[in-house]
Amino acid sequence: MQAATKLRRRHPAECRLLAELLLGMELGCARWELALRQSEPIPPRRLPRLQRKLETLSRGIPWQHLAGKTEFFGRSFRCDRRALIPRPETEQLVTWILEHCITHATARPVIAEAGVGSGCIIITLALELPEANCLGTDISDEALTLAIANARARGVAGRIRFSRDDFLSSLPSASLDMVVANPPYVTSAEYRRLPAHIRCHEPLLALDGGPDGMNAARRLAPQAARCLRPGGWIYLEFAPGRMRRLRKILDTAGFAAIATGQDYHGRSHFMRACKK
Ligand SMILES: C[S@@+](CC[C@H](N)C(=O)[O-])C[C@H]1O[C@@H](n2cnc3c(N)ncnc32)[C@H](O)[C@@H]1O
Repeated sequence: MQAATKLRRRHPAECRLLAELLLGMELGCARWELALRQSEPIPPRRLPRLQRKLETLSRGIPWQHLAGKTEFFGRSFRCDRRALIPRPETEQLVTWILEHCITHATARPVIAEAGVGSGCIIITLALELPEANCLGTDISDEALTLAIANARARGVAGRIRFSRDDFLSSLPSASLDMVVANPPYVTSAEYRRLPAHIRCHEPLLALDGGPDGMNAARRLAPQAARCLRPGGWIYLEFAPGRMRRLRKILDTAGFAAIATGQDYHGRSHFMRACKK
């Protein structure tokens, strides 16, 4: 009872959803089935484990870490504190990229993701684009181990070359057809105001973009311009409020045809640009 109250205090908007997810996980059924089974008592032998998990959630551990997995683009990805929890809006970046690949078909495109985290983006691209030659970098060894485990679990480890790198700094010039990234873009001040369940359980490296949130963009844009072939594309997820500044950085780095993409809330949250 205490745990349930704490859960409500910590996650006021989501406590019902979390409780249902937890119950569904314990009873081995989908959330919608719970309504049909509401008159069934919970088997007493399950109660201690349920209580322990409720306690864990009420301490602020993210649901995805408790479950050890999350869904991205309709597939299950292992998920823990080694990397950012994949966000639903990032699926829209992937959709935008796949639409691009249909209209600008390139035979055996070489695609690199800078900052793979759990690997959700590059693994999804490898699965959706079986012709693509994929690379993924991260500066965090921990994130890379998680991404490699996810690539193995999805059967594409042999098709993605993972390496520890400062974005794309070790890749050869003019070797890529596409660069994709969801770099850290929160300002350091915004980072300090993020809810504790994010700050305490997801890596600082994945979130903090420096004093103005633009550190990663300033580093990545010239590297991407160097590594892309002329006519190659960069696709980015970035802070909705900092798109004008991102556009300027891409323009200065030598990109043209700069355009924004909207998220589910109608905010400009993605940007693409073509290497001149
Ligand atoms: C916002 S997370 C995105 C992770 C994943 N792509 C996703 O969308 O869920 C940013 C990732 O960039 C990585 N990163 C930060 N600075 C980096 C750098 N200089 N070089 C390479 N990766 C970096 C972080 O470790 C983190 O995994």
